Amino acid sequence: MPQLILTADPAFSHLALEEFRRDSRNGLPLAELAPGVSLADCDEGFWGLAETWIDEPPVFTRHICPVDLTTPLIATPRDLSRLSDAVVVEYAALLDPEVSFSVQSRILLDLPYKPFDVNRSVAASLTSAASAPLDVRQPFQILSIVCAPAQPPPTSKKPAAANHRQLAFIGLSLASHNISDWAGGVRRFRREKEQISRAEFKMLEALEAFRIELPAGGVALDLGAAPGGWTRVLRQKGQFVTAVDPAALHPRLDNDRGVRHKRMTAAEYLREGPDSFDLLVNDMRMSAQDSARLMNAFADYLYPHAEAVMTLKLGKTARPLARARAILRQRYTILHMRQLFHNRNEVTIHLQLKPS
Ligand SMILES: C[S@@+](CC[C@H](N)C(=O)[O-])C[C@H]1O[C@@H](n2cnc3c(N)ncnc32)[C@H](O)[C@@H]1O
Repeated sequence: MPQLILTADPAFSHLALEEFRRDSRNGLPLAELAPGVSLADCDEGFWGLAETWIDEPPVFTRHICPVDLTTPLIATPRDLSRLSDAVVVEYAALLDPEVSFSVQSRILLDLPYKPFDVNRSVAASLTSAASAPLDVRQPFQILSIVCAPAQPPPTSKKPAAANHRQLAFIGLSLASHNISDWAGGVRRFRREKEQISRAEFKMLEALEAFRIELPAGGVALDLGAAPGGWTRVLRQKGQFVTAVDPAALHPRLDNDRGVRHKRMTAAEYLREGPDSFDLLVNDMRMSAQDSARLMNAFADYLYPHAEAVMTLKLGKTARPLARARAILRQRYTILHMRQLFHNRNEVTIHLQLKPS
C-alpha cells in the first residue's frame, strides 16, 4: 500500500492531521518533511483514503499524493538524470497512454536545481519512454516528486545514513485523487497591474477550485467589498455588482457603471431593503457566526438558483466552524468548504440556496 504525503497550511497542519486520523484506518503520521508537509501511512493506503476524501473532502488538508518509490538524492545536478532513469524504470509501463500526464515536483530543502528542472527532465524522459501525452495545465495523471530531507524511522534514534541525507518521494496518481490539481495545492495567479487587493486571488481560486460558473450578465452582491478586489474580479467575469462596505472602494472602481457602492454595513443595507441577486459573496471581517447569520438574512433576497461564496474567519482555532456551519445549513446546502492556498486564518465556503 503506498504511503502518502499530506500538505496543509503550516499553521493548520495539526487540524489536517486530525482529519487524516479521523478519516483513515490506523492513520499514522511518520514524519514532518517541512512545515505543513507530512509523510504518513494508513491501512487503506493512498488510494483508499483518496476515495474516502472524494466523497467527503477534508477542510484543512490541501493536497495529498502517493509515495510508492523512494530514491536517494546526492544533491548535485546529476540527480536529474538519475531521477529520470528511476522514474522511467518504475512508471513508464504504468502510465495510461490514452490520457494526459504531468510531473509535479516540490523541493523542500536546498538543492542545486529547481522544481522546474525536475519536471522538465523527468517529463522529457517519460514522454520518450511512454506514449502518454504531456499536459501540464489539465493533466489526468500526475507523477508527484517531493524532494525532502531523509527522516529516520519514527522508532529509531539513529540519524539517517550519511549518504541518504535527502530523498525523492515519488508516486503516481490521478489528478482527481489529489484534492488539488496543483503541486502541494499551491495555486498561484499572475499579479495584474490593475489588481486592487491580494484578496482577488482568494476569489479567483474559489471560482476555479469549486468550478463555479457565473451567469452571463448576472447580478452579484459583495458584502465587505472594500477596497474592491472581489468586486473587480466579478466585474471582469461580466457581473453587475452591488458592493456593500462602510469603507471606501478603490478609485479605479469609481467610474465603473457596473458597480454600485452602498457605503454602509451589511445590516444597514438589510434595513434599507436589498434588491434580488444571482450571487452573494461575503469576505466581511467579522466573527464566523455573525457572518453566517447575515448570510441567512440575505438568503431572502436571492433568486432560487443563487449560489454564494464566503470566507469564515477562524482566529487561532477551527471551533467557530461547526457553529457557523450549523447556522448556514438552515438556508443553504454547503457544496464545498476548504482552506484554499490563498486563505489565511480562514476557510472558503461555497453554498447553494436551499429551496424555500
Ligand atoms: C478582508 S476585507 C475585504 C476585502 C475584499 N473582499 C477585497 O477583495 O478587496 C474585509 C472588509 O469587511 C468590511 N466589513 C467589516 N464589517 C462589515 C459589516 N458589518 N458590513 C459590511 N462590511 C464590513 C471591512 O470594512 C473590510 O473592508
